[in-house]
Amino acid sequence: MSRQNLESKRAGGPPLPLGYAIGAGPSLFTPHNWTLTREAHPDRRFEVHYSAWEPILQGDPLRLEAVIRNLVDNAVKYSPSGSTIRIELAPHTEGLHLRVADEGLGIPSHDLPRVFDGFFRGSNLPATQGGMGLGLYLCRQIIERHGGRIWAESQEGRGTTFHVVLPRERGQQHGARPAS
Ligand SMILES: Nc1ncnc2c1ncn2[C@@H]1O[C@H](COP(=O)(O)OP(=O)(O)OP(=O)(O)O)[C@@H](O)[C@H]1O
Ligand SMILES: [Mg+2]
Repeated sequence: MSRQNLESKRAGGPPLPLGYAIGAGPSLFTPHNWTLTREAHPDRRFEVHYSAWEPILQGDPLRLEAVIRNLVDNAVKYSPSGSTIRIELAPHTEGLHLRVADEGLGIPSHDLPRVFDGFFRGSNLPATQGGMGLGLYLCRQIIERHGGRIWAESQEGRGTTFHVVLPRERGQQHGARPAS
């Protein structure tokens, strides 16, 4: 897909109002939230790695937390009982790099360019698997309105990793407008 196509598929809308400066590690998804997630899914192994307690991000903590929740919910939903889900927060040249990796059914390569589209559902899903196809669409809206990027890597039958890069500050280089 050409760069122009990628650009034209970007989510629209203004940047979100950002009133908070949040510490990436402890505030983005609190230890309490991890405990709740583990308790909700005792049949999964969660590996959580924080190598980034810095940098400080500017962002909307509730919406950023919703992004992580959506990615973790998908990782659980599309992977088998007993498998491992790895969540990693690490420094990145632009700011912060979040990865959510599972060992699930994966996403067919021809579906990958469309997973962030509204109402899109993978062609490899069992007919009984419920969902609206909106979770990733919302994730992309939220991340791009923070001046960040989100993408997926996947091998069908092996697993999927979602990546999010959030800028240290609201990045002019991403076309975000200053807060009003
Ligand atoms: N971790 C994953 N592993 C495999 N496929 C995935 C994964 N995450 C998303 N997908 C694929 O991308 C599609 C879109 O995901 P999205 O979260 O937007 O919708 P959904 O999970 O189907 O429904 P919901 O609106 O309840 O989130 C899914 O239907 C699925 O095919
Ligand atoms: Mg989902």
